[in-house]
Amino acid sequence: MDSDEGMNKLVAPLPKEVFWNAHEICHVEGFWFFAHLMESIAAFRSDFEPRSDDILLTSFPKTGTTWLMALCHNILHRHDDREEEEDDVLTTVNLHEVVPTLDVFFLHDQVQDLVLNSNRSTGGRLLHTHLPYTCLPEAVRNSGCKIVHVTRNPKDTMVSMWHFYNKIFDVFPMEGAVESFCNGVLPWGPFHEHVIGYWEESKRRPDEVLFLTYEDLCRDPKKEVRKLASFLGKPFSPAGNGCEDEEVEKVLWLSSLGRLKELEVNKNVVSELTQIPNSSFFRKGTVGDWKNYLTPQMAERIDQLTQLKLQGIELSL
Ligand code: A3P
Repeated sequence: MDSDEGMNKLVAPLPKEVFWNAHEICHVEGFWFFAHLMESIAAFRSDFEPRSDDILLTSFPKTGTTWLMALCHNILHRHDDREEEEDDVLTTVNLHEVVPTLDVFFLHDQVQDLVLNSNRSTGGRLLHTHLPYTCLPEAVRNSGCKIVHVTRNPKDTMVSMWHFYNKIFDVFPMEGAVESFCNGVLPWGPFHEHVIGYWEESKRRPDEVLFLTYEDLCRDPKKEVRKLASFLGKPFSPAGNGCEDEEVEKVLWLSSLGRLKELEVNKNVVSELTQIPNSSFFRKGTVGDWKNYLTPQMAERIDQLTQLKLQGIELSL
């Protein structure tokens, strides 16, 4: 059976919709996924062999994935012998190649190589997925590996997603984008159910699942980065004297949007792995940018949905 045949067999029986009038998405276990990724998703779910020291970053698209990848990478590598800035792999390789998204690229040779052969001195492998918690490979859920989830205000997520997909697909009107976001019929959606899955698991298993928000990271980056480093088993020295804060500040600077965006690799390079310009992962990075794009009615619609979905859950977004 060739790959197209295999894909057709996987996709044919699934309920389908067309996202933004152009892209086929399939419904699996309560969530929507791009049809063209179904083979990779299925392989990740059945073939991935987690290790207990793996670190799996998880996120709904456009909620701060790239930032979380950078922070974790820089926390884990902060004691490496880096004499020059050029020794930092992030100056030559985009983060999405350093920390591969397994549901999207599981079958890519580059990722297979990294997943099968990586033997890092700093501990387990740093990996990422956009899959919702309930769709993770069962082996991952039972492995005890650390999971870090990042989420973001739904209106800012929606606006960030609109910019991103408009760059890589044809431009689509905001009204339609809000409609699909609120209906939950979008890749990896519905958004709220995606978030709730990780939130509940972080409450059940706080030592193994850490839940962060983009807004907390913006509001108190030092506190959040210290929390993240401790969770990863690489704590900074306690706050108090200025020297220890320097290390935290360095990690924050190395991971900052301002720095990463200006690196040549993130300006004019199309990644061989993702096949999209590395620059598409970096835009404004502000909280509340939705105000510049959503009408009051659109904002109200998303707010009401958020209120409804998060009823009885101790989480505000
Ligand atoms: P905006 O579109 O609001 O600017 P993801 O990484 O999940 O795709 O999310 C992309 C969003 O994170 C974009 O938000 C992008 O600008 C922002 N971002 C990317 N790298 C960042 C970083 N290092 N620090 C803060 N925000 C970052």
